[in-house]
Amino acid sequence: MNGRLRVDGSRRRKLWRDLFNWYRKTKRRLPWRTDHDPYRVLVSEVMLQQTQVKHVVAKYQEFLKRFPTVGSLARARARDVIRAWSGLGYNLRALRLQRATQEIFERFDGKIPDDPELLMKLPGIGKYTANAVASFAFQQRVPVVDTNIRRVLSRLFYRMHLPEERISDRSAWELARKILPRNRPRDWSLALMDLGSTICTPYHPLCLECPAKKVCRSAFLLGRKKRERSRGRREPSHEGIPNRLYRGRIIEVLRHVKGNRSIDLERLGKRIKTPYRQSDEAWLRALLHGLQRDGLVKVLIAPS
Ligand code: ADE
Repeated sequence: MNGRLRVDGSRRRKLWRDLFNWYRKTKRRLPWRTDHDPYRVLVSEVMLQQTQVKHVVAKYQEFLKRFPTVGSLARARARDVIRAWSGLGYNLRALRLQRATQEIFERFDGKIPDDPELLMKLPGIGKYTANAVASFAFQQRVPVVDTNIRRVLSRLFYRMHLPEERISDRSAWELARKILPRNRPRDWSLALMDLGSTICTPYHPLCLECPAKKVCRSAFLLGRKKRERSRGRREPSHEGIPNRLYRGRIIEVLRHVKGNRSIDLERLGKRIKTPYRQSDEAWLRALLHGLQRDGLVKVLIAPS
């Protein structure tokens, strides 16, 4: 399925025309799309890495009010950065973003580079974020592939029968590069993103309403049933609740602890889980050691 794909010119032109027309009428007006300042784009993209748009919308302006420039974030105390990040989850992202701003000062004189290869060398910035910043802030003609775009490209160019089928990540980047228009590459990627989040959705794509239905190879083919997720891909959890949520709770509790900000293991356990049992201790220790490895907490307890 992921072999070489020829994308013929007339099909590509038709897709560009139909999608640009649709995007002009329906585009989502999100705060980070009207402001192309590189720092603001970088902050939004890091926030959007694992958090839904609606939660980011609520936090984005507030965070920027607190840290309006690369310099203000680079110089801030880590605990203030985590506080401003609270509610978005995955706090490690906040610290990595701060480290990135510090490196921007050390290596690039405080100016965010426009080259994706340089951006990718900064902490917490992978290929998606690097290309998104290069495209959305600097108008570079580089492809952008996130989960939405990968799904949309898979369906548009290959016959897919199951909603969860995808081409490989590598093929998606290659395809995104091949079909990137010369004009308005930024709008093109945003249009694909919007198509993925409003019409070409993971399990119930709205093919009838899709502006690309005439050229899409999977139009109306996708079954309606979600396949059982394999056990291997499930995220780590404890008694049915993802560890990710418990980690967020731990950080929240620690943020509010007065004095020297330390708390004993059992008290912490009771604050984040009900009921907290003796048998939960090993699990809690493992969570705390994970957070310590990420530099988010310091574990002062003696090993059991
Ligand atoms: N606009 C720009 N980047 C975005 C993203 N990652 N998700 C949704 N909308 C965006």
